[in-house]
Amino acid sequence: MNEFLHRGDNKKKFVQKMFDDISGKYDFLNHLLSLGIDLYWRRMLVKRLKLKNNQSVLDVATGTGDVGFAILKHHNVKIIGLDYSFNMVKHARQKSINKKVNDKFSFVQGDGENLPFEDNVFDALTISYGFRNIGHFEQAMSEFFRVLKPGGICAILEFQEPESKIFKSIYQFYFKYILPRIGAFFARSDAYRYLPESVQNFLNRKEMLKLMASKGFNNPQYEDLTFGVTSLFSAIK
Ligand SMILES: C[S@@+](CC[C@H](N)C(=O)[O-])C[C@H]1O[C@@H](n2cnc3c(N)ncnc32)[C@H](O)[C@@H]1O
Repeated sequence: MNEFLHRGDNKKKFVQKMFDDISGKYDFLNHLLSLGIDLYWRRMLVKRLKLKNNQSVLDVATGTGDVGFAILKHHNVKIIGLDYSFNMVKHARQKSINKKVNDKFSFVQGDGENLPFEDNVFDALTISYGFRNIGHFEQAMSEFFRVLKPGGICAILEFQEPESKIFKSIYQFYFKYILPRIGAFFARSDAYRYLPESVQNFLNRKEMLKLMASKGFNNPQYEDLTFGVTSLFSAIK
């Protein structure tokens, strides 16, 4: 039995409020609960993009902006970070000022399912640990396709369940019993119960590839990272 909703408009409202509430603790808990491995996962995402100078990137569900900051360490590009949570955007914007990259990284509060951009404008679109949180996956994927330029890359980092039985047991124990307890100690207690349940209810690897292909993307593929706890999906418009 699920405690939370994993599709639809009410999920969207719940997720928006939850991230508004935990925004101040998000970075700290992210690095703590992933034991710092999230930095490596985002680096792999950035490598996959193969960006060139002056290209444009849309980071959907940017949260506190860490994908964008990882990109700007290596590339001279323009980034827009879009997020549905007002408070996550506020934190991201302040971080970009502190890091003195606010001339290259701008922010929009908005919905990944209804992007406020023209067709064919971005060279790359990234979304890291955001896609699972979206209310309508089909609608969002259509929007990603629409705003990318032909030849542009869509890259998605998302949790998956490891395929190896041993790692799956370790992962399930950590995600179900350890992570919610640590999370509850520092932040809204349901947020870290929602996380494992949302992974369990998310699309699997094959369904993700099928969804990307169904919207017109070419060469959808994935790479498992860290024993398949996370997968890096990518495809070309
Ligand atoms: C787990 S955080 C990921 C943040 C960041 N990308 C990272 O790698 O740390 C998920 C983010 O997805 C955002 N989100 C959820 N639904 C969204 C939607 N429909 N449109 C845009 N952002 C959304 C949340 O507000 C939250 O900031």
